[in-house]
Amino acid sequence: MHLLTKKRAVVTGATAGIGREIALEYAKHGADVAILGTNLERAEQVLKELEQNRAFPEQKFCYKIVNVASTQEMQEALSDILNTWSGIDILVNNAGITRDGLLMKMKEQDWDEVLDVNLKSVFNACQAVIRPMMKARFGKIINVSSVVGLTGNAGQVNYSASKAGVIGFTKSLALEVATRGICVNCIAPGFIKTRMTDELSDAQKEAIFAKIPMGQLGTTKNIADAAVFLASNLSDYITGQVLTVDGGMVM
Ligand SMILES: NC(=O)c1ccc[n+]([C@@H]2O[C@H](COP(=O)([O-])OP(=O)(O)OC[C@H]3O[C@@H](n4cnc5c(N)ncnc54)[C@H](O)[C@@H]3O)[C@@H](O)[C@H]2O)c1
Repeated sequence: MHLLTKKRAVVTGATAGIGREIALEYAKHGADVAILGTNLERAEQVLKELEQNRAFPEQKFCYKIVNVASTQEMQEALSDILNTWSGIDILVNNAGITRDGLLMKMKEQDWDEVLDVNLKSVFNACQAVIRPMMKARFGKIINVSSVVGLTGNAGQVNYSASKAGVIGFTKSLALEVATRGICVNCIAPGFIKTRMTDELSDAQKEAIFAKIPMGQLGTTKNIADAAVFLASNLSDYITGQVLTVDGGMVM
């Protein structure tokens, strides 16, 4: 079943990991997909993969090389896409970074970079698309937070604050646009199998597994499936929610 036929989707941070998987699943479900990222080589690679995963010949795919933390770059990139496609139906704010360290030793730059890439980016993207979505009386905005935005995590005051900020932003915007046909929700992934988690030692993995009731890491596909649901008509009466996809870590 194609859940996103004729929908126009933008996914940030889609040249790798979770964002790439979301973009590919959206393509399989029939959506036009624009990927935003910083790495040209990887963007071209993902564009090829999108072509290979299309559901219909008329689907359109493109990429924009952009720093999500830059308000100007985001306004330019998103207004380009809006003009070309005459609208955006789905926005996934996925781009994110970590600069971990204890507060005592954290550099101001590590605080600023994480807040800018993880939180200001959500402001940048949402502000650029919200008027056209309101005019169209339709929109699905999905912000990728993290379980640590709910629980906190030692060594991640910057990251946890940014991800908690994304949750507050999501609920506030959901209230602002609830009568306009726009749903705004968060996905909060737990520990997901990515290059980052592949590099952990066996002892570190054991410690992580002990915290996950389902006893295994999540996959990027698990997150992409939730992102398809929240972008589709199956979730039309759901807004302002945080969907944890974490094997039962946070209940
Ligand atoms: N992997 C996990 O276990 C996990 C858990 C919870 C939340 N998350 C969140 O999921 C999202 C994706 O994480 P991932 O594991 O796929 O990470 P990743 O590092 O594999 O991918 C992040 C993507 O964001 C892009 N990006 C980074 N800075 C950017 C910038 N300034 N401008 C544009 N793009 C930029 C990167 O190029 C990359 O494509 C992030 O928001 C992350 O915080 C991940």
